[in-house]
Amino acid sequence: MRECPATDTVRALDDEAQLSYLPISRLERQPPQTAEIVVADMQGIDEEGFARFNDWRFSPRGLVAPLILIVDDDSRKRVLRRGLNEGANLLKRPLEKTTLKPLIVQLHTANLARARKIQPDARDSHYAAFPEQAEGLKAGNAVLDDIFNAWSANEAFDADSIAERSAAIIECVGQTGLSDWVTAVRQHHDSTYQHCLLVTGTLLSIGHHLKMRRSDLGRLAVGGLLHDIGKADIPLDILDKPSRLSEHELIVMRSHPLAGVERLAGKRGATPEIIMLVRDHHEFLDGSGYPNRLKGDEISDFVRLLTIADIYSALMERRAYKPPMRADDAIGLMASMREQIDQALLAATVPVLRDVRT
Ligand SMILES: [Fe+2]
Ligand SMILES: [Fe+2]
Repeated sequence: MRECPATDTVRALDDEAQLSYLPISRLERQPPQTAEIVVADMQGIDEEGFARFNDWRFSPRGLVAPLILIVDDDSRKRVLRRGLNEGANLLKRPLEKTTLKPLIVQLHTANLARARKIQPDARDSHYAAFPEQAEGLKAGNAVLDDIFNAWSANEAFDADSIAERSAAIIECVGQTGLSDWVTAVRQHHDSTYQHCLLVTGTLLSIGHHLKMRRSDLGRLAVGGLLHDIGKADIPLDILDKPSRLSEHELIVMRSHPLAGVERLAGKRGATPEIIMLVRDHHEFLDGSGYPNRLKGDEISDFVRLLTIADIYSALMERRAYKPPMRADDAIGLMASMREQIDQALLAATVPVLRDVRT
């Protein structure tokens, strides 16, 4: 195994920058989803190593962390020939500490700047503007902060506690209705939070309409808040990109259901139902969805309902690049997805969905 001459410099940054240093000879089958920055030494690797590295970068579960490739003349040519330099930082041997360290610091600083910022002032004014929804918004923000910002890989997962903490959202949507909830949530400064809170409110409003039991409303709240937990592994510049995603970005984005499953796998408290919701919510009845192209009966009723709430919410969201859709138009669009979503279930939810004023 080849040693990188700058290992000392790299190791010195471990604690602060969570740097992964991976010689090609030690590549795992899956890239590290939690790495902040990855440095790969490309000098002298054989064809098999290149092929494996290629899979590793461009597979659906491919690397999302910034990448530094260390190359010499020969490996540089091979890297360029395979297009592996796309989006990567190339550093040429002989490697100087004065070139590697500033680059790592620069990438680390950029990562920090991209990290999701919780803005207490923005939240306070949001609560003040929507006093009737404030308690529900606070409860939702607290759960989502845990999911997207604080939840560590080793922590147990407590769905019961999330259901309990969602009580304020259940009350709020039950008392003031979906339309006012949507109006309030559309003013959220974070697009992923906005989406999860809209999905949760939509599910709960349907649950209230169908007179579901309190325990089932808790399950709906957990499903709505958690379904996109895998987006915690998607870079914010892809999640919040104000324009169409490139092919590679789309592949990264579509990795979020399995990224979520990976986050939950083996965690105490992650029930089969939660894992199913996280994994299957982008599946379609005709097999055209992802990640497993499930069909018909392979998709549970709960997932079908979540998918309806998920699509409806995405259409109703306010984004920098698109105005929210009107409720009737959103329902019409979903009705046109005849083979893909459960039309009988959609019809049962229409009285709730069409109640939202634009
Ligand atoms: Fe999703
Ligand atoms: Fe979603």
